[in-house]
Amino acid sequence: MVNQGVLVQLLLASLATSQQLFSTTSGPTALLPQCSTKHIPSSTSHAVASSSSHGTSKFRYRALDTVRYATSVPSATSTPTYAAPSKSLATLLPSLEYTTWGKWDPDATITASDSAETYGQAAWTALWRDADPVGFPEKSVFSTTVSPTPVPSNELVLPPRDYFGPSDCYDFPKGFSFGVSSSASQIEGATADEGKAPSIMDIIVRDNKPKAYVTNENYYYYKQDIERIAAMGVKEYAFTIAWTRILPFALPGTPVNRKAIDHYDDVINFVLEKGMVPVITLTHFDLPLQFFEDPQAQGQNLTKEELQQLDYITAGYANETFTDAFVNYAKIVLTHYADRVPVWVTFTQPPALGSGKAVYNVINSHAQVYHFYKEKIKGTGKVSIKFNANFGVPRNATDDADIFAADYYNSAQFGAYLNPILFGKDYPESFKNLTGGNYVKLTDNDKKYFKGTLDLLGLDAYSPVVVSPPVAGDTSSIQTCLANSSAPLQPWCIQSSNINVYGWNIGYRSQSYVYTAPTFIREEINYVYQNWPIPMAIMEFGFPVYHERSKDLVDQLFDTPRSQYYLGYLTEVLKAIHEDHVPITGVYAWSFVDNWEFGDYDQQFGLQKVNLTTQERYYKKSFFELVDFMKARGVK
Ligand SMILES: *[C@@H]1O[C@H](CO)[C@@H](O)[C@H](O)[C@H]1NC(C)=O
Ligand SMILES: *[C@@H]1O[C@H](CO)[C@@H](O)[C@H](O)[C@H]1NC(C)=O
Ligand SMILES: *[C@@H]1O[C@H](CO)[C@@H](O)[C@H](O)[C@H]1NC(C)=O
Ligand SMILES: *[C@@H]1O[C@H](CO)[C@@H](O)[C@H](O)[C@H]1NC(C)=O
Ligand SMILES: *[C@@H]1O[C@H](CO)[C@@H](O)[C@H](O)[C@H]1NC(C)=O
Ligand SMILES: *[C@@H]1O[C@H](CO)[C@@H](O)[C@H](O)[C@H]1NC(C)=O
Repeated sequence: MVNQGVLVQLLLASLATSQQLFSTTSGPTALLPQCSTKHIPSSTSHAVASSSSHGTSKFRYRALDTVRYATSVPSATSTPTYAAPSKSLATLLPSLEYTTWGKWDPDATITASDSAETYGQAAWTALWRDADPVGFPEKSVFSTTVSPTPVPSNELVLPPRDYFGPSDCYDFPKGFSFGVSSSASQIEGATADEGKAPSIMDIIVRDNKPKAYVTNENYYYYKQDIERIAAMGVKEYAFTIAWTRILPFALPGTPVNRKAIDHYDDVINFVLEKGMVPVITLTHFDLPLQFFEDPQAQGQNLTKEELQQLDYITAGYANETFTDAFVNYAKIVLTHYADRVPVWVTFTQPPALGSGKAVYNVINSHAQVYHFYKEKIKGTGKVSIKFNANFGVPRNATDDADIFAADYYNSAQFGAYLNPILFGKDYPESFKNLTGGNYVKLTDNDKKYFKGTLDLLGLDAYSPVVVSPPVAGDTSSIQTCLANSSAPLQPWCIQSSNINVYGWNIGYRSQSYVYTAPTFIREEINYVYQNWPIPMAIMEFGFPVYHERSKDLVDQLFDTPRSQYYLGYLTEVLKAIHEDHVPITGVYAWSFVDNWEFGDYDQQFGLQKVNLTTQERYYKKSFFELVDFMKARGVK
C-alpha cells in the first residue's frame, strides 16, 4: 500500500508534466499527447480534491483550456528554381502573340468595334454569346485584386480537441509535402472577366442550381486566401490554371491573354513570398467549350442538359483538335512558370469510360508535355497526373468473384493510363473489355514514346466503393452485361454499393459519395503501388460533413466528422509508409475552402467556411487539427 503523502506527490509531479506538454505558447506548436507513449494520467483532479479539506476553502477551478496558436509558415530564405527563367524559355516558343480582352456583360449595349479581327473583342464576345450561360451575370463583391491583410491572432487559437484521437507513433518522412488544394472553376469566379472564355463548366448547369460564375471570387481574393493558408502554417498550395483564361480561343496559333499570364504569375510569386510552395495542375474538368461544339459527332445529339453529366467531358478530350491544343497550352504555361514550380500535374481524373479516343488523347498529350518539360525546358521538377476518387474493394474479401470484379474495376481505371505511361505496355484486358474494343491501338512507337513519362503518381482518393459482379459469384455476368447496351448495370457492369457484406455502411456517411472508412486508403495505396511501383502523392482527399451547410455558423466550424476523416486517413497513410514501405511523398487536402461542387454548394469539402454574400472566410476546427497532426509528426 502506498502512503497518502507519496501518492499526492506523485500526482502533483504528473500534473507538472502535463502542464509542460500543454504549455501556453505562441512559439512553435507544442506536441499534443496523440501518440500512445505520451499519454498522461487523467487522475490529477482527484489530487486537487483530496488535498483540500471539504467545506473550509473555496473551490478553485483549474484552467481546462490552454491557449495555443497556429504558427505561420516562416518567410522563405531562398527560393529554389526548377528551370531557366521564363525570359530565356520564351525562345522555345518564338511566335507567341499576346492580347488583352475585357469583361463580358450580356446586358451592356456597347458592341465591340473590331468585328473584322479574328481574335478581337467582338470575336471573344461571340464566344460568350454562343455559350449562353444561364442566369449570367451574378452579383460579385470584388472587381479588382484585393490587398491582403494579416490574419488577426484571435482567429488562430486552436479549438478544443476531440476527446479521443489517433494513438499512432509514426512520423512522416523527412521532406514530406503537406498542402491544401483547389481548382480554378470551383473557386475563381470572375468567369467572364479579363479575357476568360467559357469552359464546359460555365454551361454545365442549365437549371436553377448554383453556377460557377462567381463562387469564391478567388480570382480577385487570392492574396487573402494565400495569406490565410500561410497563417495556418501550411507550406504547399495546390491550384489549377484555367486554360480558357490563358488561351480564350483554345487552339494553337491563337493569341495568349496577357492579363491571365500576369495573374498566375502573381499568384505564384505571392505563394513564394509567403514562404510557400506552388503545385500546379493544368486542367481540372474545365475544358474549353470549343471542343464541344459538335456533340453530334459523339453519336448522339446531346442537349445542354445532357452535358450536365460529367461523363460528357469525355467528348472534349476525344476531339480531334484536343491533343495539339492541350500541348500548345501546356507549353505556354511551362515556359512562363516552370522556373518556380516543383510539381506539374497534367490532368485531373481523366475518364476510363466512354471514348477510347479520349484516353489515347490524354496519354499522348501528357507524354508530349513530359518530353517537352524534360528535354526542352530541362525542368528539374516533377511531372504528374492524378487519378480518380473511387477505389473498388471486393464485397467479400475472400470471394474470388468479388475480387475479380474489384480488380476489373480498378485496373481499368488506373491501368488504361498507367500501363502505357509507366511501362510502355498495352492497356489492361479489363479496359479493352470495358470499352468493347472501342479503343485506339497503341503502336510500338506510341509505347516507346509514352514509357516512363511520369515522376509522381497522383491519387485523388476519397472513399472506397464496395464491388461485386452483376450476378453474385459469376464473373461472366460482367461480360454478358457489357455486351448488352440496355443492361441496367451499364456502363461499368458491376454492382457497387456502400454496404459491406454484413449489411453495415462501410463508414460514416458524408453529404456526398464520401464515407469515413480510413483503412481503405492503405489498401488502395498498396494496390496501386504493387501494380505500378512509382512514388505517389495523395493529391486530393476530403470530407463534406453531412448537412453541414444547414447548421449555425459556429456549429459548422466545429466539424468533428471532418477531423476524424482526416486524422484516420492520415494514420493509415503513415502505416502504408512505415509498414508497407510505399514511397508516399506528400498529401494535399481538398479543399482549403468550401467551394462550388459542379452545381452545388451543399457539399462542403472546405477546411474553411465561406460566406458567399460577403466572401468572408472562417477557419474550421478540422483545419487546425489537420495541421497539428502533421506538425506533431515531423512535417515542417
Ligand atoms: C472539335 O473542336 C473544334 C475546335 O477545335 C470544333 O470546331 C469541332 O466542332 C469539334 N469537333 C467535334 C467533333 O466536336
Ligand atoms: C442528330 O441531329 C442531326 C440534325 O438534326 C440529325 O440529322 C441526326 O440524325 C441526329 N443524330 C442522332 C444520332 O440522333
Ligand atoms: C465470403 O466468401 C467466402 C468464400 O467464397 C465464403 O466462404 C464466405 O461465406 C463469404 N462470406 C460472407 C459473409 O458471405
Ligand atoms: C475480358 O473478357 C474475356 C471474354 O471476352 C474474359 O475471358 C476475361 O476474363 C475478361 N477479363 C477481364 C479482366 O475482365
Ligand atoms: C439486355 O438487358 C435487358 C435489360 O435487362 C434484357 O431485357 C434483355 O433481355 C437483355 N438482352 C440480352 C440479349 O440478354
Ligand atoms: C453572411 O454574412 C452576412 C453579413 O454579415 C449575414 O447577414 C449572413 O447571414 C451571412 N450568411 C451566412 C450563410 O452565414
